Amino acid sequence: MNTLIFTLYSSSTFSQNIVKQVPCKPGSIEIRSFPDDESYIKINSDVKNQRVIFIATLDRPNDKLVPLIFAAETARALGASEIGLIAPYLAYMRQDKQFEEGEGITSKFCGKMLSNYFNWILTIDPHLHRYHSLNEIYSIPSHVLHATIQISNWIMSNIPDCLIIGPDQESAQWVTEIAKMVQAPFVILEKRRKGDKEVEISMPSIDKYKNLTPVVLDDIVSTAKTMIETVKLLKNLKMKSPICIAVHAVFAEDAYSELMNSGVAKIATCNTIEHPSNMIDVGEAVARYFSATMNN
Ligand code: R5P
Repeated sequence: MNTLIFTLYSSSTFSQNIVKQVPCKPGSIEIRSFPDDESYIKINSDVKNQRVIFIATLDRPNDKLVPLIFAAETARALGASEIGLIAPYLAYMRQDKQFEEGEGITSKFCGKMLSNYFNWILTIDPHLHRYHSLNEIYSIPSHVLHATIQISNWIMSNIPDCLIIGPDQESAQWVTEIAKMVQAPFVILEKRRKGDKEVEISMPSIDKYKNLTPVVLDDIVSTAKTMIETVKLLKNLKMKSPICIAVHAVFAEDAYSELMNSGVAKIATCNTIEHPSNMIDVGEAVARYFSATMNN
């Protein structure tokens, strides 16, 4: 069985690394909107009896999900024998419980929807907080990769003496592992979310780390309020200017410029979502994993 990879929504470095290293052919697809905003889909490659993979990172997901699902259905109608989804950033993972009566647990709905159209999914550091595994919400096989090695290597090559700071309990899973690899001390802060764009963060005493460069590390930076509040606390403590690292550079609205102007020394993100702050490639790791595990 041959593999065809269709890149729909991706950072170019991420998808190029995959297409270069995985034994596959790039697929040709046309997706456009009609004047009334409905989607037009045309697959130009022969996908009959082939494995088809779509690369689609799912930040700002609402405009992407319909064309993606229609593309998968087109491939299936044309006879593709297997349809996989590489979604470097997986959407809707943060609504993982009913915080208030009446709310929809959209992480479940998204899992159910994508499971209907794909044979498997591969993603990087999905926001698994209250869920322990994607299997709790996806009924298809899921492959979860982590950016910890790539982030650790980047820190070791760029920041000699650092203190790793996790801005909330959810970040502990990344922070503890990366601090161990980098052999740096770490602290985990307490965060209370008061609204979509409002968080309150408290920091323990970090006086003994005054000479180290703070590295604020999180999985997602969306409104950037979590990072900005942490940077403010570090400034008040007269720490060195911090470096902010995130796996997924969602950066809603003006979040990037607000974070840039908050007093950070640098912002570095992985290329799961195309963004000017991308400094850490994870495409190569996906390609290696894919080549090693997927049957031909
Ligand atoms: C949430 O628990 C995540 O780990 C991030 O801390 C959060 O998504 C960051 O959001 P924001 O940038 O909007 O503060």
